[in-house]
Amino acid sequence: MNRELTYVLSFLILVIASISLFNLVNPFDKHYLSRFDFLSRIFPNNSPEACDYSNGRWVWDETYPLSSYNESCPFLDPGFRCRQNGRPDQDYRKWRWQPYGCDLPRFNGSDLLERSRNGRIVFAGDSVGRNQWESLLCMLTQGVSNLSTIYEVYGNPISKHKGFLAMRFKQYNMTVEYYRTPFLSVIGRPPKNSPNQVRTSIRLDELHWYSRKWAGADVLIFNSGHWWNQDKTTKMRCYFQEGGEVNMTMDVMEAFRRSLQAWKSWALNNVDPTRTFVFFRSYSSVHYRNGTWNEGGDCDMEKEPEEDPTKLEREPHYNIFISDVIKQMENGTRKVQFLNITYLSEFRKDGHPSKYREPGTPPHAPQDCSHWCLPGVPDTWNELLYAQLVSKEFRINKKNL
Ligand SMILES: *[C@@H]1O[C@H](CO)[C@@H](O)[C@H](O)[C@H]1NC(C)=O
Ligand SMILES: *[C@@H]1O[C@H](CO)[C@@H](O)[C@H](O)[C@H]1NC(C)=O
Ligand SMILES: *[C@@H]1O[C@H](CO)[C@@H](O)[C@H](O)[C@H]1NC(C)=O
Ligand SMILES: *[C@@H]1O[C@H](CO)[C@@H](O)[C@H](O)[C@H]1NC(C)=O
Ligand SMILES: *[C@@H]1O[C@H](CO)[C@@H](O)[C@H](O)[C@H]1NC(C)=O
Ligand SMILES: *[C@@H]1O[C@H](CO)[C@@H](O)[C@H](O)[C@H]1NC(C)=O
Ligand SMILES: *[C@@H]1O[C@H](CO)[C@@H](O)[C@H](O)[C@H]1NC(C)=O
Ligand SMILES: *[C@@H]1O[C@H](CO)[C@@H](O)[C@H](O)[C@H]1NC(C)=O
Repeated sequence: MNRELTYVLSFLILVIASISLFNLVNPFDKHYLSRFDFLSRIFPNNSPEACDYSNGRWVWDETYPLSSYNESCPFLDPGFRCRQNGRPDQDYRKWRWQPYGCDLPRFNGSDLLERSRNGRIVFAGDSVGRNQWESLLCMLTQGVSNLSTIYEVYGNPISKHKGFLAMRFKQYNMTVEYYRTPFLSVIGRPPKNSPNQVRTSIRLDELHWYSRKWAGADVLIFNSGHWWNQDKTTKMRCYFQEGGEVNMTMDVMEAFRRSLQAWKSWALNNVDPTRTFVFFRSYSSVHYRNGTWNEGGDCDMEKEPEEDPTKLEREPHYNIFISDVIKQMENGTRKVQFLNITYLSEFRKDGHPSKYREPGTPPHAPQDCSHWCLPGVPDTWNELLYAQLVSKEFRINKKNL
């Protein structure tokens, strides 16, 4: 090593050591520390960043969750309130996700609200995305003393299931929004020249018009996948369109892959990549046993997570496509992340509403083994979301602090 480099290095070590020491003596003098702001540029993402939260195991923890919400949270869909719907066992609430090699930071609602002050957190996707949105709303109520100060911007009731909802946290001047777009792409009437069997078409090269409302958000959390199957497309006479043409032979997975390319172009052209945090959440596991969802499949016998990792399903193809597109977008400065929750959710065959569905559901209706009871597994997804935000030092209006 040459001599100058050695000098530079020892100088840096000295500086770091003196900061650490100062930190011990007077950890609260931000003024003093801010003089060393340049260090965070030389050594970005100092500690928790390296951890892979997606890989770990579920541990039984009587004390979990330390402080959280319960089924009286006013933002929960009746269908997710499993206990109120008669589910007798409660153990599904007492499992904590433990990543290998690190701990998840404890979720702090007021901290996340404070970091999001004056901003917008936006979820876009299908009803499992709504499941996660409701979970986050309830987790954030920890940071709010008066629940009446949280309200829907357009006065819509939380029971509205079409379109979008924007919940405003008045105290923090911020909103947490959900846009129902199961395909993310435009779905509508097919072009006039289409074959007769085509009832609707999905325009793979065009994102839903709601995307105009997503631009300008500070945190975006996308999900898609559950509707990209034959049952919800070609079997319903819904085909895939590119340009003005419907393609009668395109396979649904190929269509999903292409729709993600349109999503990528939208994100690259409409989102400030250095400011906005963009997440694409991975596929959420379904757990139908003894048949598919429409053939009497069930999960109501499941009272505990799967213990044997070899019994888990293989990585779904949806995830390969999503993580590929994220890799194509990453370039060091861009804040685009894959929120990988599939593996942890795959264990949780015990976490679904199963036969304890919302009041009024006909007795022989299919079980729900795709959404999740709340409080429940999506809370952990939001703990990962929080961890990934905090590790990248997410904070709106950083300069004004
Ligand atoms: C998601 O996380 C699991 C567990 O760490 C891992 O096995 C899997 O490869 C990850 N998926 C992708 C697409 O990165
Ligand atoms: C549910 O949470 C609310 C608000 O935190 C609390 O007032 C209430 O006592 C809780 N109910 C139960 C049954 O724990
Ligand atoms: C949560 O965050 C707030 C605001 O940053 C802080 O004052 C509080 O001490 C934190 N609570 C816990 C339990 O860490
Ligand atoms: C609320 O946030 C908006 C930005 O979303 C900002 O323009 C406005 O000034 C904020 N209002 C207050 C009272 O801080
Ligand atoms: C709670 O907030 C609502 C709406 O802002 C307000 O009308 C009410 O007085 C508040 N209640 C308390 C106890 O502060
Ligand atoms: C339809 O899509 C497939 C790919 O799934 C492609 O190979 C084929 O050329 C397309 N057909 C037309 C007419 O564009
Ligand atoms: C479903 O299969 C499991 C074993 O895989 C069995 O124990 C259970 O009784 C079956 N349930 C029904 C309703 O057939
Ligand atoms: C990464 O993206 C930013 C913003 O779009 C761009 O300015 C920069 O040149 C890109 N860097 C690389 C290495 O591609």
